[in-house]
Amino acid sequence: MKHIQANDSNNDNRDESSYSRREILKMAALAGTGIVVGMSGMASLFAINNGQKIIPDPEDFQSEIVNKDVIPFYGVRQAGIGTPQQMYMCFAAFDIISNNVEKLKQLLKIWTDISAEMSAGRALRETNGQREVNSIGEKYTDSSAKLTITFGFGSTLFTKNGIDRFGLGTQCPDELRDIPSMPGETIHSQISGGDICIQACSSDPTVAFHVIRNLAAASIEIAVIRWIQTGFIDASNGQTPRNLFGFKDGTANIELESEQGKEKHVWVESSKGPAWMINGTYLAARKIRMDMEKWEQTFVRKQEAIFGRTKNNGAPLGMHDELDAVSMREIPSDSHVWLARSTGTKILRRSYSYFEGIDPVTGNLNAGLFFISFQQSVRKQLVPMLSLLAKDDALNPFISTISSSVFACPPGSSEGGYIGEQLFEVN
Ligand code: HEM
Repeated sequence: MKHIQANDSNNDNRDESSYSRREILKMAALAGTGIVVGMSGMASLFAINNGQKIIPDPEDFQSEIVNKDVIPFYGVRQAGIGTPQQMYMCFAAFDIISNNVEKLKQLLKIWTDISAEMSAGRALRETNGQREVNSIGEKYTDSSAKLTITFGFGSTLFTKNGIDRFGLGTQCPDELRDIPSMPGETIHSQISGGDICIQACSSDPTVAFHVIRNLAAASIEIAVIRWIQTGFIDASNGQTPRNLFGFKDGTANIELESEQGKEKHVWVESSKGPAWMINGTYLAARKIRMDMEKWEQTFVRKQEAIFGRTKNNGAPLGMHDELDAVSMREIPSDSHVWLARSTGTKILRRSYSYFEGIDPVTGNLNAGLFFISFQQSVRKQLVPMLSLLAKDDALNPFISTISSSVFACPPGSSEGGYIGEQLFEVN
């Protein structure tokens, strides 16, 4: 086992860029806590012992895959977009506090390594005694619980307050623009935007929580959390989940979930540059508060007219089954479905419900939908839909939008590479 004196890093004259990825990873972890676990596949359990930082050799650990519920992290496209939706989400937006592009790249490399390990559910065990942990940190589990971790870059990573901190300004995609303000919304900047977003989804809420915690611990002195949102969908046993208003939500996604549907509407293709975004997509996230008390006082018949679908089985009005074709003649022209379809554009929705207790001012439930959609173009696919809905949707008296963010999700990475490398390596 290798021992490093507590003040080693002060005496070390090496330039930051000459540290290896693993060393940076170790330092980031050491900066955070006495024991940080699950940071990478090998030497990632650290301890402070009698004032000395101890970094064990890889051989001190047995690394094994104990998990059948693995959704691969590496791939041409990032997981957590086109992969089946898990029940729980923890979504964090980070601001980068360093202006050094090398530090930013190191962070992305570290985050990639850690994410691949956690997604694989790789178990790390300390053989010399004290503590048994696995790669999801404080979470003791024998499963990665269908974990996916998805990264996105905000427009402020490219230019912030007119300053191109990382020399990436010319690479900013045209599509990475804020959603224009919509009638009736009140956007709070402290829960909107951010330089980098990370969406962790899992079938276990504590896995999603610890993933964000672990990634935050590895980012010390380079990034800070700007906001976090957690969310859940109901256990649907293969059924379309219901939102907090009790309606099946996601029915019309089915078409988009096919490979063909995603190629056509979700993944950025070569003709729709920039080149570093090919096989990536754009993520829009909007927190939408839902007025549960008002909804509960509304007759079901009226609720159904508002959505244009039945509450019981989600069938379009005038039809029998959920998957029956929607007849625009049968549903009200101010209904949510009528308006959302009438633009003719399609988006892949992957939203989560949220519930955050009682509003201290009104005493009402603080609950709603953390709306997430993926699309090739926010401007051409989502904004026309939002504009129509914001103006005329019969649902509007029951909802209010309080946050809005757009992120460019780069393509996936391969082992040895890192998330976003296509962006950084073009420079
Ligand atoms: C709290 C807010 C919202 C709630 C409760 C809600 C709920 C629903 C429900 C119940 C459906 C019908 C079932 C389905 O096809 O999934 C639906 C459909 C849809 N919603 Fe929303 N939604 C909300 C916000 C939004 C927003 C902000 C957008 C994007 C602009 C959106 C876009 C769509 C689309 C595209 C469809 C499918 C329409 C179709 O092709 O049939 N929704 N939504």
